[in-house]
Amino acid sequence: RSLPWRVRSSAKKKEYFTLVSEFMLQQTQVKTVIPYFNNFLKNIPNFQSLAKVSEAKLLKHWQGLGYYSRAKNLKKSAKMIVGNFSGRLPNNYEELKKLPGVGDYTAGAVLSIAFNKSYVAVDGNVKRVMARLTSRKKLSQHNLRFIKSKLLKFMDKNRAGDFNQAMMELGACVCLPRNPKCEQCPINKICNAYISGKPTEYPAKVVKKTIPSHFFVGGLIRVGNKILIQKREEKMLNGLWEIPMKKINDQKNLTKDFKNFIFNKYGITVKINKVFSAIKHSYSHFNMKLIVIDCEKTTSIVKKKNMYSWIEKNQINKYPFHKVNHKVFSLFKKKTWNV
Ligand code: ADE
Repeated sequence: RSLPWRVRSSAKKKEYFTLVSEFMLQQTQVKTVIPYFNNFLKNIPNFQSLAKVSEAKLLKHWQGLGYYSRAKNLKKSAKMIVGNFSGRLPNNYEELKKLPGVGDYTAGAVLSIAFNKSYVAVDGNVKRVMARLTSRKKLSQHNLRFIKSKLLKFMDKNRAGDFNQAMMELGACVCLPRNPKCEQCPINKICNAYISGKPTEYPAKVVKKTIPSHFFVGGLIRVGNKILIQKREEKMLNGLWEIPMKKINDQKNLTKDFKNFIFNKYGITVKINKVFSAIKHSYSHFNMKLIVIDCEKTTSIVKKKNMYSWIEKNQINKYPFHKVNHKVFSLFKKKTWNV
C-alpha cells in the first residue's frame, strides 16, 4: 500500500517518519493510524519539535489513538535523540533498545526500514503468515526463534525494510486471520497451511482471558454554557482531562454516590436532571461501563484546589480528552446539549 510514512524522503525525515509511525502502529491498525500520522507530522514535524513539545499539545495530537504511554515514550525518545545523538536516530540495536518504548520488534522495524539493516520485525501479522507458511500451530518461544531464523534466510539483504513491510502487508491484506485470500497469495505454492487445506488452523487459537467490567458514574455538571472538567492524576492517563467520574461497586445509590463525590471533591452541590444508560468503552485491561448524569450546579463552597476547570462547549477541542469523554460529549450533543 501507499502509506504516508513510506514516501521517499531525506534520510533524516525517513528516520523521524519511521519512529513515529512504528510507535503509532504498535497497538493500532494502519487505517486508524494514517490520519493521526499526517496530523502529527503537520504539527510536530521533527525530533527537535517533538523533544520540546508541551504535554498538552502532544496528547492533543495523540488523543483517540489510546495507549498514551506510547506518546510519552516517543517524546522521551526524541529528547534522547536530540540530546545524545545530534537529532539523528541511532542506527544500532543496542542504542535503539535504550530508547523508552522501543522493544525488539520496533528496533527491528526501525533498523530495517530506516537504515536497511538486516533485522527482522515480527509483529502479529508476520507471526500468522510464518505460522502458516511453516505449519507451526503453537507460537512458542522455540517456534518464534525458528520463524525468525527462517525470515532472516528468506530476506533480501539489500531490501530488508521492504521485505519486512511486505511480510506485514501479506498478513494485513491477504493472509487474514479468519478468511485468508489464499488464491491471491503470491507464496501459496510453498505454504504448508494452504497445502494442508486448512490454513486457518495455523496458528492455533489461544483462549483469551476474559477481562472484567467495571462500572463508573460520571457527570456533565453544567452552569449556563459551561461544564466542569478535571485533570487525571493517576499514572495511566496522566495529563488527560475528563468529566468528573468515579468507579462504583454497585449501582444502587448511584446519584447519591455521585452527589457525595462531587461535594467532597469540589464543594459543589448539584441538581440531577437525567441519568443516561451506560456508555461502553474497552480499555486493554477492563471494560468500562460509564453511567452518565446530566446535572446542574446549585451551590458551591470554596474547596481545596483540585486540578479542574470550567469550560465552554466550544473549548472542548482545546483540551486532550480520553476517547470515552468524546462518546459522552456526542451523547449530549444528540440529546440535551442545547438545553
Ligand atoms: N505495522 C507496523 N509497522 C508497519 C509498517 N511499516 N507498515 C505496515 N504495517 C505496519
